[in-house]
Amino acid sequence: MPTRIQTASEALHERAKRVLPGGVSRNTVLRKPQPLYAAHATGCRITDVDGVERIDFANNMASLIHGHSHPAIVAAVTSQLQRGTAYTMTTEVELRFAEELCSRNPGFDQLRFVNSGTEAVMGCLKAARAFTGRSKIAKVEGTYHGLYDFAEVSQTASPATWGSVDAPASVPVAHGTPRSVLDDVVVVPLNDIQRAVDILDRHSGEIACVLLDVMPHRAGLIPADQDFVASLAHWAKCDGALMLCDEVITFRTAYGGAQQRYKLTPDITAMGKIIGGGFPVGAIAGRRDVMDIMNPHGDNYLLPYSGTFSANPITMTAGLTAMTLFDHDEIERVNYLGRLAIEGLRAVIRSRGYNASVTGAGSLFRIHLQADAPRNYRDSFPSPDASERLRVFFDALLGQGILLVYSCMGSISTPMREREVEQLIVAVDGALGSLR
Ligand SMILES: Cc1ncc(COP(=O)(O)O)c(C=O)c1O
Repeated sequence: MPTRIQTASEALHERAKRVLPGGVSRNTVLRKPQPLYAAHATGCRITDVDGVERIDFANNMASLIHGHSHPAIVAAVTSQLQRGTAYTMTTEVELRFAEELCSRNPGFDQLRFVNSGTEAVMGCLKAARAFTGRSKIAKVEGTYHGLYDFAEVSQTASPATWGSVDAPASVPVAHGTPRSVLDDVVVVPLNDIQRAVDILDRHSGEIACVLLDVMPHRAGLIPADQDFVASLAHWAKCDGALMLCDEVITFRTAYGGAQQRYKLTPDITAMGKIIGGGFPVGAIAGRRDVMDIMNPHGDNYLLPYSGTFSANPITMTAGLTAMTLFDHDEIERVNYLGRLAIEGLRAVIRSRGYNASVTGAGSLFRIHLQADAPRNYRDSFPSPDASERLRVFFDALLGQGILLVYSCMGSISTPMREREVEQLIVAVDGALGSLR
């Protein structure tokens, strides 16, 4: 029998396992038997080290709105690289980028840049605590808001740990999470107004903020109901808690973020991903009196905040260029392609009778291997068998030239056209067919 030739990805992974736990720095790129190693990428296409090209619907976890190596971003960053990458001085490009983002949403009076979505959510939570003098936060079960102790609670809750739906348990992600952290996180179910409000009422006067992602990816990429969002915002207002919107993924779905589609004006917003133009970024934006607690020269200075690489000129240059290009027309176009993908996938699933469903909105979609689209985290939680089928489905898509995020979530980038969406639908049809 001929010996199988090792692929370049396999060889790299063998080396990587010696120096990186699991062979990687982020679990999101893990895959069995080994992760794919990227060689190069342009526009909406990515090629791995074994020379296989695919259409990239993963977009580095939905963070690349213009795909890879957009010429205007490359030119702007190259020019900035020659003038320095980080200074112990502030820059005009930071100011121009802050002006650009604040101009996109009337609720963004002021803004601070940070280095990741995790940090943006963490900064917002600290700001809410400082502003209200309260310690508890409320969040929706199963939602991912990054790695900060408080924000990650319940993200990996399972049937064995999640408790009653009337009082979802605060489940730690990291072993060793202090009990006090869990006691300070109140967990509510998505799109269940009565239960959510009943739970919040039990903590009246104690909650610093209600943390809400209006379309949480890890909880199923299910759009929150308009009434649910309005009820949480109303509760927060009446109770003196802040409304904190996590727009790290969803900002791409409207000019000033998904909150505009919900007519929601949060007190404070966390951003990340696409606003970095392909570089690590986060931002905290909000109402002037809330943001002013970070102003060392103000009368209400409650939250000292710094970061070595915050607002570095490379990210600021890339981000400003990317967001200037991502104007009303481009948003409309990628959202149209997103709609085409969601409706096209649903149509093929229906016509072939596949055991699958699609959630999402704007330029984001997620495929579930269950006939009824999930309504919340518990609905979308896959059994071990479903997880295995999802893995096989994901690999089948790879074989058909399509790269998604491992949860089978995908996003549209501006270099895409209808052709790429059609290729996605054909590939999903083939991959679902192969599961039968
Ligand atoms: C909704 C949401 N919030 C926060 C984060 C954390 O962002 P980052 O990975 O940049 O730390 C993510 C990342 O996927 C996210 O999807």
